[in-house]
Amino acid sequence: MTKVEEGMKVPKGLAGVSITDTKISKSEADGSLIYRGYPISEVASNAGFEETAFLILKGRLPTRTELGSFIQGLRERQNVGEKVFGIMRELGGGAHPIDVIRTSTSALGSIDREPDLDRKELSLESKMSVLAANCHRVPRGEAPRTPKAGLRFSDNLLQMLTPKEATDYERWVFERVLIFYMEHDMNASSFTVMVVASTLADPYAAASAGLASLKGPLHGGANEAAMEMLLKVKDPAKAPEFLAKSFKEGKKIMGFGHRVYKEFDPRARLCKEYLHEILKKRGDDALFRLSDAIEKEMWEKKRIPPNLDFYAAPIFYSLGIEVPLYTPIFAASRIFGWMAHYNEQVEENKLIRPDSTYVGPSGLKYVPIDKRTG
Ligand code: COA
Repeated sequence: MTKVEEGMKVPKGLAGVSITDTKISKSEADGSLIYRGYPISEVASNAGFEETAFLILKGRLPTRTELGSFIQGLRERQNVGEKVFGIMRELGGGAHPIDVIRTSTSALGSIDREPDLDRKELSLESKMSVLAANCHRVPRGEAPRTPKAGLRFSDNLLQMLTPKEATDYERWVFERVLIFYMEHDMNASSFTVMVVASTLADPYAAASAGLASLKGPLHGGANEAAMEMLLKVKDPAKAPEFLAKSFKEGKKIMGFGHRVYKEFDPRARLCKEYLHEILKKRGDDALFRLSDAIEKEMWEKKRIPPNLDFYAAPIFYSLGIEVPLYTPIFAASRIFGWMAHYNEQVEENKLIRPDSTYVGPSGLKYVPIDKRTG
C-alpha cells in the first residue's frame, strides 16, 4: 500500500489519483478500454449483453451452462410488482425519470428479504431495466410495459422502451451501446457505489446512491443534454455559430470531453460508425452529418473529442426512444458494473473515510442570539 503522509493533498476532483486496485476494467488516455482484460472492440464484436455482464461480474467468460442459468436467473426476477408501480404513479408526471428509478430502487430494497447476496443482486440487476423502461410512462398514468417471455435482455429492454420495430442490425447496435454503458472503471457513480459498499450497506442502498450520482449532466445526464443540443442546432451549417456562442457564454458542450480520454473515446468511435450505418440503410443520414459537423468543429476549435454519450444519443433517437429515457438506459446497463464494484469493495473491505484540510476559522467565542448584530 502507498504510504500516505499526514495532511497529504490530492488534486481537485481526485483527478489522476488511483483510489483502489481493481480487476474489473480500465480506460487509458490513448483511447484504450478493457473489460476484465478483453479490449472493448473484442467484446463488442463477439459477446452478447448477458455474456458481458457475467464477465464483468465474475471476472471470466461463462460456460454455456453458466450463461444459461445466468440468463434464466435474470428472467425469473423481472417482476417489479404492482406496489412499486403504485409508488411510481404517486410520484406523478413531473418527476425526473432518474428520481423515479431511485425511489423505486429504494422501495424494492425495503421489500426484498432475500438473504443471499448473489441472488439479491441478480434481482436488482434484472428489475433495473423494467424500472428504466417505465420511469417515464407510469408516473404519467400510462400502463406499465413488462418483459416478454423468452427475449434476450437487450431486446426485452428495447421492446419495453419503444413500440417502434427495429431491424436486426438496429437491435444488434442497441445491444452494443448497452455493453458500452455497462462499465467504465472509476467513474463518479461507481465511486459513489464503492463508498456506500464500504459502509457494508446493502446493494439497493449502494445502487440508489449510484443513481443519484448518475443523474447529473456531467455524468449520466449528458446523453439527454447532447440530444437536446442536436435537436436545437438542426443544421450542420449552424454548428460553428452555435458552438462559438456557447464558448462565449462559458457553456460546456454536452457529450464532449472526458477525464481520461483526451484523444478519442473508443466507444464513441464505434457508436459513430453504427449511427452512420443505421442511417445509411434508411437512406437519410442528416442526423449523422449534423453530429459529425459538431464533432469536427469541437475538435478544430477546442481539441476536445466526443464521448460515448454524444453518439449514443442519436442512436437512441433513431431507434424511436424518447429523450428522457436515455439516462435511465444507462442505469439499466450500469447496474451490472456497479454491482461488480460493490462486490470488489466488500470482498476486501476497508471503510472509505478520507481526510480533509480545514480552511475555516477556529477558536470563535459563542455570542448569545440577542447580542448578535446584523
Ligand atoms: N465543452 C467545452 N469545454 C470543455 C468541455 C466541454 N464539453 N469539456 C472540457 N472542457 C474544457 C473546460 O472548460 C476546461 O477548460 P479550461 O482549462 O480552459 O478551464 C478544460 O476543457 C478541462 O475541463 P475539465 O472540466 O476541468 O476537465 P475534467 O476532466 O474535469 O472534465 C468532464 C471531464 C466530462 C466533466 C467534462 O469534459 C465535461 O463537463 N463534459 C461535458 C459533460 C459530459 O459530456 N459528460 C459525460 C462524460 S462521459
